[in-house]
Amino acid sequence: MPSGEGADQTSPHRHSHVRHPARHERSRAVIQVAVHAGAIVPLSWLTVDALTGGLTANPIQAITTRTGTAALVCLVLSLAVTPLSGIGRQAWMVPLRRPLGLYAFFYASLHMATFAGLDYGLDWRLIWNTVLEKRYIVAGTGAFVSMLPLALTSTRGWQRRLGPRWRKLHRLAYLAAILAVIHFLWLVKADIRQPLAYGVGVAALLALRLPVVRGRLRSW
Ligand code: HEM
Repeated sequence: MPSGEGADQTSPHRHSHVRHPARHERSRAVIQVAVHAGAIVPLSWLTVDALTGGLTANPIQAITTRTGTAALVCLVLSLAVTPLSGIGRQAWMVPLRRPLGLYAFFYASLHMATFAGLDYGLDWRLIWNTVLEKRYIVAGTGAFVSMLPLALTSTRGWQRRLGPRWRKLHRLAYLAAILAVIHFLWLVKADIRQPLAYGVGVAALLALRLPVVRGRLRSW
């Protein structure tokens, strides 16, 4: 038995997943199901409200803001997986990154389609003029365009094909999150608390990727 192994037997938590592998498998499966279920809630709720007339006096704005919020929450959660799994030594969390990223892209696509389709009736000249006029739409478009290659290359095939370039490409997620927060910040008139809270969250998650911060946290 390698040295120090004995010592391990005395700390009940250290290898509890070895002692109860089935229980750990179950809790991981439960968390994965919970993540998928949680990500589908905004869409289900929106559908129920749409079918029962619960989308306020301005349904298009309600759909736009709710799909935008769902996109931003999923994007921030997908960015939280890597630092949390690293600091908490929970490597099993890493596979949650892809579905969360794809849900973020799904909601951002719904969000953009609501804007271009429902709100602007696919009048591309009008949309273009609005993009030129409203800087928050420029930031939103930038966020969406940054997410596009991530969604397109989210398969294992692309991960193999791109090799180390895949990790570099997927750093675009940082830019997408920063632009989405700026998009939100620029569109709110007075109360900037919500976009600011998202901004602090994104800044913390990016800071956690800095080796010095990660090293300090791990040793702590
Ligand atoms: C082409 C891209 C985009 C366009 C044209 C767009 C357009 C809009 C518009 C018009 C609103 C304001 C709705 C209103 O209050 O009337 C909005 C809000 C919002 N958008 Fe976007 N957006 C885009 C991309 C994104 C992306 C990629 C994200 C997130 C990843 C996002 C997140 C949000 C959020 C969080 C809000 C505010 C929701 C609230 O007020 O609670 N948007 N967007």
